[in-house]
Amino acid sequence: MLGFPVKQSYSPRLHGRWLEALNIDGILVPFEVSPEDLSLVLPTFPRLGLVGACVTIPHKEATLTLMHNVDDAARAIGAVNVISINDNGELIGRNTDGYGFIESLRQSLPDWKADHGPALVLGAGGAARAVVYGLASAGVPEIRVINRTRKRAERLAKELSTSIGCRMSICDWDEMENHLSDVAVLVNTTSLGMVGMPPLRLSLNHLPVTAVVVDIVYVPLMTPLLEGARQRGNHIVDGLGMLIHQARPAFREWFGVDPEVTETLRSLLIADLRV
Ligand code: ATR
Repeated sequence: MLGFPVKQSYSPRLHGRWLEALNIDGILVPFEVSPEDLSLVLPTFPRLGLVGACVTIPHKEATLTLMHNVDDAARAIGAVNVISINDNGELIGRNTDGYGFIESLRQSLPDWKADHGPALVLGAGGAARAVVYGLASAGVPEIRVINRTRKRAERLAKELSTSIGCRMSICDWDEMENHLSDVAVLVNTTSLGMVGMPPLRLSLNHLPVTAVVVDIVYVPLMTPLLEGARQRGNHIVDGLGMLIHQARPAFREWFGVDPEVTETLRSLLIADLRV
């Protein structure tokens, strides 16, 4: 597990719970590696006998440039969150964040269909790129992106539009309420609502009650956005699911088993989040 800092990451605990449940002799070690040292550290991994690594902030973008090969998702999103090491000792980078987002949505709402209508994504950072990629790969016909800094949303749309086949548009931050009336999926990828940050101020009056509302923030699990949506009857999906589901393909790749995402696992992780 590579990060800087790294102690905030829940991945070692999550993978640890799966390794324990499946009786697999392994460990995910948190390594605090500075940005200057990343290019020195990564090439040593095959020689250390590691099966792979997870990557978190701020290394996801830089890791992309240090891989022997990357998958389509990593290339499109512009970031790597999972590394595996192949039989030739090569570093293979993947991005499973968009997949994790969609799997979390599907687990929470098995009847969800991508063609239910447009998605509105708030934010244009790294998480937004992964969510847009995930939604488009799942077949969502239209994605609207709204970000405080409009230019960043424009850049996201421009860069991703070559690799995804859905309609994308940019809307103004101050006008987000005017773009809700036909939305089927509303996603917050900004840090608003996170502990220590102000809440996302958005009236949901125009949002169809059939729309699903997702917040990728997971501290707290019940953000003001989700609470407001729940109260008016929208289906809500919290951020813990994405965190868990983005880790599944990594575990499967490294250990050959698809680990289960159960209510017990969720409860254990929620308890961990409170520590
Ligand atoms: P991540 O990789 O988690 O997406 P990031 O790249 O730092 O993190 O992006 C954070 C997102 O939260 C951005 O969309 C950011 O908006 P800007 O691009 O305008 O900075 C958004 N964000 C953070 N603080 C915000 C605030 N106070 N109001 C509105 N948006 C905010």
